[in-house]
Amino acid sequence: MGGGLADLWERTGHRVTRLGRDGGDVSDAEAVLVAVPGGSIAEALDRVKGVEGKTMIDATNLYGVVPPDSFASNAEFVRSKTNGPTAKSFNINFASLYGRLREARARPSNLWCGDEAAREVVEQLNRDAGYDPVYTGPIENAAAQEALLGVIFAINEAMGPYVYPFAPLESL
Ligand SMILES: NC(=O)c1ccc[n+]([C@@H]2O[C@H](COP(=O)([O-])OP(=O)(O)OC[C@H]3O[C@@H](n4cnc5c(N)ncnc54)[C@H](OP(=O)(O)O)[C@@H]3O)[C@@H](O)[C@H]2O)c1
Repeated sequence: MGGGLADLWERTGHRVTRLGRDGGDVSDAEAVLVAVPGGSIAEALDRVKGVEGKTMIDATNLYGVVPPDSFASNAEFVRSKTNGPTAKSFNINFASLYGRLREARARPSNLWCGDEAAREVVEQLNRDAGYDPVYTGPIENAAAQEALLGVIFAINEAMGPYVYPFAPLESL
């Protein structure tokens, strides 16, 4: 999903640097998206330099793992490591649909929660990717936003292919 968002953002004029599992230096970045397996977040952040004070967007989900260091959410763990404005976003919408966002009958919404100081960046990046940002509150709500994935999977199991914002895939 990191690569897919990078492609969407580049189309709207952003300059994006893609880091792999070897990490890198983000000192020059205005904002950093974290899109690694949820259980690898601590390891991944350890390999990235220049995160102190950065605006961070955590897009991870947790499958069968819990956030590190007893944090309620991965987003709060990220903030504890970076001490900058932090948001949770892009964890609910399927990356496989990025190529179809512009075909949607209505512009899809996308959730974010987190720090006010991250609002301008995260809402702009939502819009530039093709979503209408919907604010779900402070970062203490990140655990609820992470848990929403379980609801989406439950709907898919019970009803077939549904996607957030809860419409049958074929109706979009
Ligand atoms: N795909 C979706 O639709 C979607 C939607 C919402 C949220 N998410 C969440 O977004 C995150 C990424 O999902 P994805 O589907 O993009 O997965 P993915 O295609 O497997 O990409 C994961 C990325 O993380 C890197 N990575 C793996 N282990 C790492 C480690 N220990 N340290 C640092 N980097 C590591 C991978 O590097 P390599 O290429 O070297 O393996 C790859 O670049 C997950 O938390 C997922 O739950 C995904």
